[in-house]
Amino acid sequence: MASLWPFVLVAASGMLAIDTARPRNSTLHHLTKHLLQKYHKDVRPVHDWSEATTVYLGVFVRAVLAVDVQNQKLKTNIWYSEVWDDEFLSWNSSTFDDISEISLPLSAIWAPDIIINEFVDIERLPEHPYVYVNSSGTIKNSKSIQVVSACSLETYAFPFDIQNCSLTFKSILHTVEDVDLAFLRSREDIQHDKNAFLNDSEWELLSVSSTYNTLQSSAGEFAQIQFHVVIRRHPQVYIVSLMIPSIFLMLVDLGSFYIPPTCRARIVFKTSVLVGYTVFRVNMSGEMPQSTMSTPLIGVFFTVCMAFLVLSLAKSILLVKLLHYEQRSGQERPLLYLRGDTDADGLSLDPRAHLDGVTESPVCQEHQAQSGTLKEVLSQLQSISNYFQTQEQADQQEVRWLAILGRVDRLLFQGYLVVLGLFATSLGALWARWGCW
Ligand SMILES: *[C@@H]1O[C@H](CO)[C@@H](O)[C@H](O)[C@H]1NC(C)=O
Ligand SMILES: *[C@@H]1O[C@H](CO)[C@@H](O)[C@H](O)[C@H]1NC(C)=O
Ligand SMILES: *[C@@H]1O[C@H](CO)[C@@H](O)[C@H](O)[C@H]1NC(C)=O
Ligand SMILES: *[C@@H]1O[C@H](CO)[C@@H](O)[C@H](O)[C@H]1NC(C)=O
Ligand SMILES: *[C@@H]1O[C@H](CO)[C@@H](O)[C@H](O)[C@H]1NC(C)=O
Repeated sequence: MASLWPFVLVAASGMLAIDTARPRNSTLHHLTKHLLQKYHKDVRPVHDWSEATTVYLGVFVRAVLAVDVQNQKLKTNIWYSEVWDDEFLSWNSSTFDDISEISLPLSAIWAPDIIINEFVDIERLPEHPYVYVNSSGTIKNSKSIQVVSACSLETYAFPFDIQNCSLTFKSILHTVEDVDLAFLRSREDIQHDKNAFLNDSEWELLSVSSTYNTLQSSAGEFAQIQFHVVIRRHPQVYIVSLMIPSIFLMLVDLGSFYIPPTCRARIVFKTSVLVGYTVFRVNMSGEMPQSTMSTPLIGVFFTVCMAFLVLSLAKSILLVKLLHYEQRSGQERPLLYLRGDTDADGLSLDPRAHLDGVTESPVCQEHQAQSGTLKEVLSQLQSISNYFQTQEQADQQEVRWLAILGRVDRLLFQGYLVVLGLFATSLGALWARWGCW
């Protein structure tokens, strides 16, 4: 057994020697060595320094990952490719086994310093350490990046909103004399290319328009390419969860105007609707975009509807309070009179009857009793007529109040209808605009 060891070691070392020797002798290795041996990655790869390096850009929007209205940020996943010519990285393919394309480490060669102006945050993604180089020196670098970009997001038309966000590509340092930009694909292709877009998110890609321009600044003239990514929201889920329930609540609330205004059940009803509305809004607050810059129209609408609800509730409370007051001031006096009536009938309760009984003779008593009853009848009649007069006055006042409050009620109802109509037409217009895209 022990005598075998040297053979094993020799065999292993031989294999190792072959393994390390092999890559050194491959054509790829020769080519890579040939290309990179005298390469300086710090030098812009042109023979004539006055010539600009043109970088061709291509962008595919693949997914809209998040739309953060509160912080005005858009998070997208894009497939980004850059193509440029490196005049020092070309070879004669017939001398290298007809290899026409090889991959080289990106860190070993010169690469343009192109950034997106709107970057506010960069997500870490797997690095793409290699680029393809073909025999004429054309370098292709493609990568998938998650871009968190600043974007002015408009929520007014929520949930029928269309957002237009720009991605501006430019070189950090190089002016247009050194690094120029161009489109890799035709602009029409970019505009309508939705093949790479993942369709199952809340957002739909409408178009990607692009422009090339040069930016004049104190540091020089910079080339830049802008992609305007236009996306629109799929509103179905909001229509089902937000708009239809709110329309039902509004209809119930409108229905409450058909309960007679004097009916106290109306207050209970309206309070229940108000509670239902509050619960609904608290539930839905997470779904509404929270922006300090612009308020969604639908939010304004909810608040206006709530204001109408509170107004009509306040009016109902006022009405009941007034009616109650009228009843008290109109009925308590008659109650007094009525008590006077009953007292006159009941002998034991009339103090005058006791006094009369003690001081007067029976005959006079009878006379006086008769004249007394007559007087009492008279006063009672008067009190009754008084009662009816005040009752009538009270009734008239009540009728007047009822008329005023009825008018207020009708006004509120009409206002409510007008606001609902306005809202419905503006939402319809927004929906139509949404559909036009
Ligand atoms: C490299 O490979 C070639 C054949 O492809 C062979 O002729 C040559 O001797 C090898 N050189 C070394 C150093 O192994
Ligand atoms: C490439 O090399 C072959 C022979 O090795 C030669 O005939 C040809 O002219 C070369 N091509 C260029 C462009 O130098
Ligand atoms: C290298 O790629 C560029 C761009 O794709 C192309 O125009 C050129 O013909 C290619 N060169 C060769 C030798 O294939
Ligand atoms: C998007 O906005 C840019 C300006 O920021 C404008 O040039 C472009 O036309 C807009 N695109 C659409 C489709 O509205
Ligand atoms: C998304 O839908 C468009 C048509 O609306 C289609 O052309 C495209 O292939 C779809 N994309 C994916 C990733 O399914």
